[in-house]
Amino acid sequence: MSSPATINGKEVFELLREDLSAIEREFGRDTVSNVEAITEIGEYLRGGGGKRIRPALLLLSAKLLNYEGRGAIKLGAVVEIIHTATLVHDDIIDEAQTRRGRPAANTQWGNSRCVLAGDWLYMQAFKVAVQERNFRILDTLTELTQQMVEGELLQMEKLGRLISLDEYFDLIFRKTACLFSVCMRMGGILGGATPEQEESLAQYGRDLGMAFQIVDDVLDLTASESVLGKPVASDLREGKVTMAVIHALERCTPRERKLIETVLRERAFDGVTHTEILEVLSRYGSLEAASARAMQYAELARNAICSFPAGEIKRALLWAPEFVVAREK
Ligand code: IPE
Ligand code: IPE
Ligand code: MG
Ligand code: MG
Repeated sequence: MSSPATINGKEVFELLREDLSAIEREFGRDTVSNVEAITEIGEYLRGGGGKRIRPALLLLSAKLLNYEGRGAIKLGAVVEIIHTATLVHDDIIDEAQTRRGRPAANTQWGNSRCVLAGDWLYMQAFKVAVQERNFRILDTLTELTQQMVEGELLQMEKLGRLISLDEYFDLIFRKTACLFSVCMRMGGILGGATPEQEESLAQYGRDLGMAFQIVDDVLDLTASESVLGKPVASDLREGKVTMAVIHALERCTPRERKLIETVLRERAFDGVTHTEILEVLSRYGSLEAASARAMQYAELARNAICSFPAGEIKRALLWAPEFVVAREK
């Protein structure tokens, strides 16, 4: 048994196990179409696993407010379906070969089918969400989807460019933190949160999401593909400048800057190796600086929910930021 003050990952999973299984079944029912390609692609994507962190957050947020209805299962599936749709589209845009340790869907069904499957998934998510008959939820989801699409478009416009830290934070908010925030907010809406409580939950999600994406970007530079389940060092090859690289660029010599610019231009580690880039980053402590920033966001997330009453759900939410910054995949 855990001490009253802390909870571990296994216990959090145990707390959510039944609801997460129900979400999995809902997701399975929601992604069936009489057009076979949709069902096949949907099944493939669902079967690839994934951490299911977004539905877990939605469940915890709803439970924090003692919500017990079926809406959290439905909306848990909705957020995971939206996440899945963004990944299918993202892998087409990034020309990714691998996702969740398997061939990316675009390599199996081709880009055209996957674009359409992604569109179908978005609309299916909204179809399920409409069942809640709640305009606040629909407003929140519409705004979210537009933010995410705008994020991908903005990122595309900035590819190959040396962006500022502010531009980077704006991008990762749209790409990732916005959905985390929406998961927490919708749990609050279901549970009848006061406006202040809802804002605290949304703030928690936002800060946690920022930490999550900063860590994702550090892992892209430092992890191995076998652990991560997706290609590594892909951001630079895709022309994406992330936090650690921005940190180094603000400090490095003109020669070192050239190394980074070369990879961004060549969109490959041809003239310059991955190791050379890592050497520059470690010379300036840039990976540590990015990790430290992620830890700051993790701390902000914990602070955002400090006024909620103590209990195992709150402990689980206080544990999640720790998991996000310590994760290896
Ligand atoms: C991947 O998200 C996309 C990012 C926001 C970095 P996850 O790392 O949550 O992906 P899965 O669902 O666990 O595969
Ligand atoms: C994250 O973008 C995907 C979305 C949230 C749309 P990335 O391109 O950085 O994510 P990975 O690295 O492919 O998972
Ligand atoms: Mg990508
Ligand atoms: Mg990435």
